[in-house]
Order: sequence, then structure tokens, then C-alpha cells
Amino acid sequence: MCGIVGGVGPSIQAAEVFDGLKRLEYRGYDSAGMALVGAEGVEVIRAATGRHSLDELKGRLSRLAPGANLVVGHTRWATHGAPTLGNAHPHTDCTGRVVLVHNGIVDNFRELRGEVLALGHELKSETDSEVIAHLIEDGLAAGMEPAEAVASVFSRLLGHMALVVAFAQLPLTIFGIRRTSPLLVAAGDGRSFFASDAPAVLDVATSFYEMPEDRVIAIGEPAKGAAGTSVLVPLAIDWASQDVELVGYQSFYEMELAQEGEAFSDTVSSLIDEDGGAVVDELKVDPYELKRLRKVTVVGCGTSYHAGLVGRFLIEHFAKIPVEVDVASEYRYRDPILDDDHLVVGVSQSGESLDTITAVKGAAAAGAKTLAVTNVIGSQLSRLADAVLYTRAGPEVSVASTKTHVSQVGALALFAIYLGELKGHMYPEEAREARSSLRDVASAIEAALARQAGYEESLAPFVGSDRFFFIGRNLQYPVALEGALKLKELSYLAAEAYPAGELKHGPIAMLDSEAVVVALVPRDRLREKVLANIEEVRARGARVIVVAFDGDPEAATLAETALFVPEVRPIWSPLVTVIPLQVMAGAIARSRGLNLDRPRNLAKTVTVE
Ligand code: M6R
Repeated sequence: MCGIVGGVGPSIQAAEVFDGLKRLEYRGYDSAGMALVGAEGVEVIRAATGRHSLDELKGRLSRLAPGANLVVGHTRWATHGAPTLGNAHPHTDCTGRVVLVHNGIVDNFRELRGEVLALGHELKSETDSEVIAHLIEDGLAAGMEPAEAVASVFSRLLGHMALVVAFAQLPLTIFGIRRTSPLLVAAGDGRSFFASDAPAVLDVATSFYEMPEDRVIAIGEPAKGAAGTSVLVPLAIDWASQDVELVGYQSFYEMELAQEGEAFSDTVSSLIDEDGGAVVDELKVDPYELKRLRKVTVVGCGTSYHAGLVGRFLIEHFAKIPVEVDVASEYRYRDPILDDDHLVVGVSQSGESLDTITAVKGAAAAGAKTLAVTNVIGSQLSRLADAVLYTRAGPEVSVASTKTHVSQVGALALFAIYLGELKGHMYPEEAREARSSLRDVASAIEAALARQAGYEESLAPFVGSDRFFFIGRNLQYPVALEGALKLKELSYLAAEAYPAGELKHGPIAMLDSEAVVVALVPRDRLREKVLANIEEVRARGARVIVVAFDGDPEAATLAETALFVPEVRPIWSPLVTVIPLQVMAGAIARSRGLNLDRPRNLAKTVTVE
């Protein structure tokens, strides 16, 4: 999704804002641009060469005069209008003295576009964003102060978005405003910044602040009619600039995969106190409210949804509460029956996925309690929920999630144990023991990761295949879904996931000798059933890969290749069986010469519907 960086203050360098945009690359983009604003006017450079746009922009940075005090930058993920040069941001008004960058969608754009055209404005792009610049121009022409014009226009825009605007007449001030979409304020060395995400400004800022919604904030020199930074709430960002540097690996995907054991361990350790008891990072309601819960719904998208599916088993197992899990974009349009003994859990790495935020917001409005499981401190999801569990995975740059997935499962497992204890289904000793055994899974994750080269060697005969099926039952079905998603995202191959018992109800018709079936068969209570399902697959001539616990030769005899993982308790098995699948997706994508970090068409943080 679009990324915004804007900086103001003594000698802001265009290169600094450019570096911020580079650090937002993971959000996904297809064009980019920057503007330098001075009293004499606005200089804009843009590039629309897909994922090479920032490289192209870099070659032209020297065209922006050095020693400026105000620079705004943008990476665009096309929504209204193709990713062309004309549609790339920043956009300006007819005078060229109002410049803006925008993230999100203006829902009433058609009506507003008609209005500005009727008023005689000349539109240079097909975007919804440019229309805003012209409406602000009208506000100024009507005698409004810049902040007032921004506020007045913003109040007319329907939808979720973030906007950063600068004016040639005020070259030492930038204005920002947001509704649901992410935007934060950062400061350091006497300079101030707006950014979509903290990693963009980690190397230039030392303090970070939340932005309120629907309120114009001015950074730089104070401006009439706008709130200044003194009204902002500080954010405790504990990530460091080097956390987002690629060191020792070809891609962030590979680096973050290698960090998985540490991410899981840091997450789980932070949610267990010195006595082995539970920690909830932010609990804004009385624990009694959680004790009386009678139903849990987990919502999320993509990989986070899959973590939620694992969470269902864990919560039902430990806390004995019925759990349903839904894709956030579906849940938000249902008419769920909610009340105050119902908990809705939003799982989101970024804490900014619009679908998840709106699903959780809707549940809160209907009276449910809410919990956020997120990797980003101060993200919107964390702010709106009644309780928060943070995953401590560090920044995840690769579009395809790895280390945050196991961290989410770890956090949900601890929440399940916490609820189990709170509701009296577990004695404190039992809960402590369960937490301790979960903590020990970190070494099994590390041991599985240490086998990466072996997995890749075993998978070599399959890298040319183009049809994959992932099967598993019970706790392994979400793992199958995650394995298929990783492969789809990174390799663009057809990959389907099914509950193993469901194959014979239809999908088995697709199997032939070209199909590869990856069967997840750890030693658990359904192992025999899955072995029988593997026999069904073999009988149709499909090639089989099994993922099994160490010391399971029987599973291996049914397959062309076996990927063994260290044995853990069956209830923790999704934390280790997912690893060979993450390795597999990376290996196949690499063999196809694809970019592991920025797969085509995808954005890391999906801030539009
Ligand atoms: O930031 P979120 O966890 O809310 O993001 C949800 C999905 O967009 C995300 O998991 C997506 O599926 C990833 N590309 C998975 O690798």
C-alpha cells in the first residue's frame, strides 16, 4: 500500500526522505515520487517503472536543490488509475503551490471529481488524490488558512485515508491528517517527520507520536488553525535502525526465516513473568470481564488468519470456550451476534490491516470485548482494543510473513493458557508447566531451521512442479493453508490446501502424476487417519512429500520425500511443521528467479478494503 514520508526542519536532505521511502518498500508500490517545497514554489520528481521506481528516483535526486527545509515523498500502490507517471504522487493543485501525498481511497471521489471539473480545474491525473489538492486550492481562494482548508476538505472526504500536505506559502510547515489509515509523527535533531510506519524514520528520529483521527496536525513551524505536536501521545517504539538492515542474507525473507526461533522466544518470554505466570501487555478491562467470557471469535487476514485458526484449537483445548475464526474482510460484513461476554480477537502483524481494524471496531461497537495480537506497538489495532498482546518479532520487512506467524501462534497459545487458568480449567501449576513447555519449543524451531539446507536438497526434485496440494487435519490444516499461501505468494504457483479428510469429497479428482501433495503428519491422534489419506493420494499416482516428526519411518515409506522436524507435544506441532513449508516456498521461488521480498501485486500492509 502507499507509503508516506515527509520531513521538515533545518537542512532536511531529499536523500533522507528517499531513504525513508526505501524502508517502506516492503509495503508494496508501483510508482514513487518526491517534492521539495520552498517559498519560490514546489519541485516534483516522479518515477513509474514498477518496483524499479525508487531506483529511478534515486538517479534524479540531485535535481532537487540541496539544503531544503521541507521534503515530502510517496510510494504509490495503484488504486484509482494505472501506475503511470501522471498518476504518481505528489500531486499539486492548478497553481502548483499546494502539494500533497495520500494513502487510502476517497470513496466519494467521483462526485468530488465532477465538482472540481465543473469549477474549471484542470486535472492532470486519474487519481482520487489530486482532486483533494484542487479542493484545498478552492479553500485557500475562499480565504481560508492552509490548516483550515485541509480540515474543511478532509471533512468532506469519505473513506479511510492519510494525507500529508505542504504549501509553498508556508515552506517550514507540513500538515498531516488521517482517518484509520496509518500515519505517525516522529522527531529528532530539531526536525520533524510524518511517516506511514516507524521503520521509515528509525535512523533520523528519536521520538515517535500517535496521530489522532480527523484532526489536522502541523509539524515544523506552528501554523494558525492546526494542532501542534504538543497534543500528541508518545509512542514507545523500541525498534532500532539496524533491525531493518539486510545483513548476511540475500533477502529479508531468508533473514526473517532464520530469526524465527529468536522471534518466537522473545515473544513468549515477554508474555511470561518471572514466576512462570501470565503477562498481558495492555489490559484495559478488569480480568473479571475476561473470566466471564463465553465465546471467542478470532479475525485476521492471510497468515494472521491462519495463526487464528491454530489459536482456535489452543483456546478450545486450554480454556474450553467455543471459538470461531473468520477472515476479517468477511466478518466485518456479517451480522454477528455479539454481547459483552464475547471476545473478538484481531490478529495482525502490522496492526494496520484495514479489514481487521474495521472488524474489531465493529465488534467493539456491538458490545464485545476486544483483544489485539500485533507486532507493532501503538498500531491502530493496539489502540482500539481492550487488551493487547504484542509479538516481539522485530520489524518484518518481507511481504511474506514468517517469524511473525510463529510469534502470533505463541502469543495465542499463552492467551489460551491464561484464559484456561482464569476460568478455572487449569491449576496454576498446570498453567505454569504448559507455558514452560511452550517456551521450550524455541529450540525445536531452531533445530528445524538448522535443517534448511537438507530440506532444500530433499525438495530439489520438486522445484519444477507447478501444482501443489497441502493436506493436514486438525491443528495441521491451518499449517497446510499457510504452506499453500507462502507458495502462492512467493512462486505464483497453483497451490491448494485441504483438510486431508476432505480430499475424497471432490478435490481428489484433480490428482494425477503431475500433482505434488505435501502431507502434514506429525505424531498426533489423527496420524493414522492422515496416513490413510496419503494412501488414497498415492493410489491416484500423485507425488507425495511428508512432513513428519523425527523417528517416523512409517510416514517416510509412504512418500517420495520426507521432511523431518523435531518432535514436540502435538498441541505445539504447528510451530515446527510450518518451517519446512516456509523453506520450501523460498526455495521454489528462488529457483524460479523471483524476488522473495516483494512478490508481484502484493503489499505488506493492506490499508484499503
Ligand atoms: O499485517 P497483517 O498481519 O494484518 O497482514 C495480514 C495479511 O495481509 C498478511 O498476513 C499477508 O497474507 C502476508 N503477505 C502473508 O505472508
